[in-house]
Amino acid sequence: MKTAVIYHSFFHTTEQYAKWIAEEIGAETIPMRKAKNLSGFDRLIIMSGTYAGWMPLAGFLRKNWGRLQGKEVVAVAVGALSEADTASKTSYQKIPPAIRSRIKYFKIRGATPFAGKEQRQQEILKSNLDRVLSYLKGESAG
Ligand SMILES: Cc1cc2nc3c(=O)[nH]c(=O)nc-3n(C[C@H](O)[C@H](O)[C@H](O)COP(=O)(O)O)c2cc1C
Repeated sequence: MKTAVIYHSFFHTTEQYAKWIAEEIGAETIPMRKAKNLSGFDRLIIMSGTYAGWMPLAGFLRKNWGRLQGKEVVAVAVGALSEADTASKTSYQKIPPAIRSRIKYFKIRGATPFAGKEQRQQEILKSNLDRVLSYLKGESAG
């Protein structure tokens, strides 16, 4: 299955996760602003950080939904707040319901806002991707 990992990352944590995913499953990474021609891919993993509730991945999904038809789409939001947090649910709901019902969605641990390098290194662990990777590798339903 030909897969691309499309990401938007202001502070490099989402970029790091995108690279780890790509290495693990044999995909290519494409920065969101350069993701123009998607026709050669069967599966797209769309990732971004979360910034005061705004997730660039939601806008990307809305704008590109027409060209994503027939492809498997997995969205991975990165953020400091847990998936169970009310604010995380609100940002997830910015993805239109018709799109939400057709994609697999994860929210994973991002960096504490404005954390220093050392703290980021402690927070941004490849193991934070365990659920996502096992889903992508078909090992569980995520
Ligand atoms: C200004 C700002 C606002 C943020 N707002 C949220 C938020 O609403 N929800 C959340 O889960 N994380 C929030 N975060 C945390 C970021 O999503 C987190 O640091 C993430 O790792 C950033 O991804 P990036 O390094 O790829 O840009 C915020 C961070 C900053 C700097």
